[in-house]
Amino acid sequence: MITKPSALQQLPADLDGERLPKHVAVIMDGNGRWAKLHGMPRFMGHRRGVDTLKDLLRCCRDWGIQALTVYAFSSENWGRPLEEVNFLMTLFERVLRQELQEMMEENVRINFVGNLESLPKSLQEEIRRSVENTRNNKGIHFTIATNYGGRQEIVQACRAIAEQVQQGLLQPQQIDEALFERHLYTSDVGDPDLLIRTSGEMRLSNFLLWQVAYSELYVTETLWPDFNREEFHYALRSYQKRERRFGKV
Ligand code: IPE
Ligand code: IPE
Ligand code: MG
Repeated sequence: MITKPSALQQLPADLDGERLPKHVAVIMDGNGRWAKLHGMPRFMGHRRGVDTLKDLLRCCRDWGIQALTVYAFSSENWGRPLEEVNFLMTLFERVLRQELQEMMEENVRINFVGNLESLPKSLQEEIRRSVENTRNNKGIHFTIATNYGGRQEIVQACRAIAEQVQQGLLQPQQIDEALFERHLYTSDVGDPDLLIRTSGEMRLSNFLLWQVAYSELYVTETLWPDFNREEFHYALRSYQKRERRFGKV
């Protein structure tokens, strides 16, 4: 992993280590706009976005955040030009292959969420390998949403539950929030405390619809390739100023 030189190797003094979000989710948006701004083709933005992600993952580890979940490819992103989709799939595959060793050394536990069956077979194979190899790692829990759609996730959970009811294994009265959550892709990592979206868009774009019910939202105008440790520091500072009431007074 390349670490960009940064003064922020340790938790900044104005952050309270006891009140950090346990789980941070990120909608990594703005790669295309970043590339355009720099007079480059869109794919260069995606390439730079990978470097940003690598450093954010490291930063989470350095600062003591237990889980990071990122949106890498939405179920709607298939609608992009074929060359861009192909580029992204190849990029994911290559990055996974190149980084696995380092992830092992850094004790990262990798997981993927989304409808993985319709990804290219060779990518599925890299995914399977990285998940299997890192399964027993005890460091940061790193989840990558690929071909992910929140509505699709909810529908597949409903279908799985309905099948159990049909087979007589479950009574409809037994369906509650806890049971439903066990059928979501995120059952072992839970809900994010903080959801960050880069590049200014004020929408969820079908990301973690169920799980963000009580997440704190942070939107920055900064484009994803420019989202560095300092920007993450701002996001955490904003988070620590919030009062999470969960509907209470
Ligand atoms: C996010 O950047 C990366 C993916 C969705 C794969 P975009 O590619 O959406 O960049 P913009 O939003 O066009 O700038
Ligand atoms: C959301 O970004 C998906 C990812 C970051 C992977 P998009 O760029 O696809 O979202 P919209 O189209 O602006 O809603
Ligand atoms: Mg976008």
